[in-house]
Amino acid sequence: MPAIPGPRTPAQLFRVTRAFQRSLPEGLEHLHDTYGQVSAFGLGPTRTHFLFGPDANALVLGNEENFRFSGAYDMLRPIAGDTALVTTDGEPHARRKRKARPSFHRGGAEESTRLILAAIDEAIDRWRPGQYVDVHGTLRSAIRSAMLRQFCGERLAAQEGPLVAELERIHELMDYPLPRQLVAWKLPSAARRRALAAIAAVDRVLYEEIQRRRREGDPGGRGHRSGKGSRDLIAVMLSEDGPAMSDQEVRDMVVSALIAGYDPVGSGLGWAVYNCLNTPGVWQRLRDEAHDASSRDTSSGDGASAARGRELSYTNWAVQESLRTHPPVVMSPRRCVRSFRYQGHLIPGGSLVAVSAYITHRSPAVWAQPDRFLPERWDASREGHRAPTPFEYLPYGYGGRRCVGASIASVVLPTALSRLALRTTLNLRTRHPQFGGIPALIPRDGLFVEVEAPPVREGAGGVLTRGPR
Ligand code: HEM
Repeated sequence: MPAIPGPRTPAQLFRVTRAFQRSLPEGLEHLHDTYGQVSAFGLGPTRTHFLFGPDANALVLGNEENFRFSGAYDMLRPIAGDTALVTTDGEPHARRKRKARPSFHRGGAEESTRLILAAIDEAIDRWRPGQYVDVHGTLRSAIRSAMLRQFCGERLAAQEGPLVAELERIHELMDYPLPRQLVAWKLPSAARRRALAAIAAVDRVLYEEIQRRRREGDPGGRGHRSGKGSRDLIAVMLSEDGPAMSDQEVRDMVVSALIAGYDPVGSGLGWAVYNCLNTPGVWQRLRDEAHDASSRDTSSGDGASAARGRELSYTNWAVQESLRTHPPVVMSPRRCVRSFRYQGHLIPGGSLVAVSAYITHRSPAVWAQPDRFLPERWDASREGHRAPTPFEYLPYGYGGRRCVGASIASVVLPTALSRLALRTTLNLRTRHPQFGGIPALIPRDGLFVEVEAPPVREGAGGVLTRGPR
């Protein structure tokens, strides 16, 4: 049986480590380009077997029994908790996912869209011509505020400042480059102490809210009805529908939704703005489509914006294409229960295994001109169009472990992108953004745009007017 390829000499190990230190996609690309579709890298319990391509995705993601989350996302355990979706498997995982579902499906998606659009509008209203704005950072903050309100309710959203400061301290460590992060979680360090203290502070706030709602027989929490009668995630987890949840299960679900929610949505929207501004003609097409949709849309209120998301076909292609070139979740790790053979190699039971949407989405074996941003490739009426299989295009993962927030993100992203195209005239200033981030792919040093014109405002009757200069 041939040895599993991978770096062995000090020079090879140095090159791989340096690539991962630069960014997760660069580390994965280095392994793929140097060692092929199967390789192994790392020491002791962190040694990981990297399997690349659609066949590997089908084997690993399509076989939940043998490829488990438990033991794969251990780095997230101190944050997400022992009962979180990302740290559990089997029946307990399925039960908790079912319980949370009402927050994430249709009503939840519309509520998210309404809250996120309101927060984005508020941010855009402050933009003035000539100003330089980190569009990714701004959108991420707007999305974070909206999700805090949606998942935790009005009362905790009112304490946003301190809560956000703690959440960001946790993110600081989660976004360390992989080699540094593996060490940082294990050894005492100032960053680890800060992250653990921040987790304890978030826990205090959440447990107090959960216990207060239970004590007062008010699972919804005062002021939870922030829109069309929808309930926040704490309310859904405390509700009498379905199995009862412990305080820890409620806490772990809310923390997971926050940390797994606003970062990838911010990433997805940020990269979509970048790709659309960076490709000639695309922003104008988005804007034309947004104008048509807003002039056709005679309804007022929040549901309309979500519905628009579905009718914005070009905008939807642009989002799909951006999730292909820049998938927010770059890699999916699993712990394999039993040994298995793959492409002539024996991978021992108990190993860490990882597949990658990023590598698959950029593979020339699957995509023509994989590095080019071409929204039209999603046009099903185009000659030669071939829809990708679920293992060739997987921004939200696959199967029973598919992203719980996918239905939210797939409405929010096109709707918010269309809103930005309708309201703003931006000049891209960051031409070559560097990759950063681990749980979500982010532009490491921000994504700067220059605001060229005052934001367009939607007045009474949907009339569009320019804001102040
Ligand atoms: C563009 C936005 C998003 C993208 C691209 C994305 C991507 C993903 C992917 C690829 C997975 C599967 C990971 C794996 O197989 O290892 C996943 C899982 C998950 N996502 Fe998302 N996500 C997004 C938004 C959200 C939102 C808004 C939420 C919260 C509301 C969320 C919560 C979760 C959770 C809790 C899981 C674990 C599911 C499970 O283990 O069953 N995500 N996401």
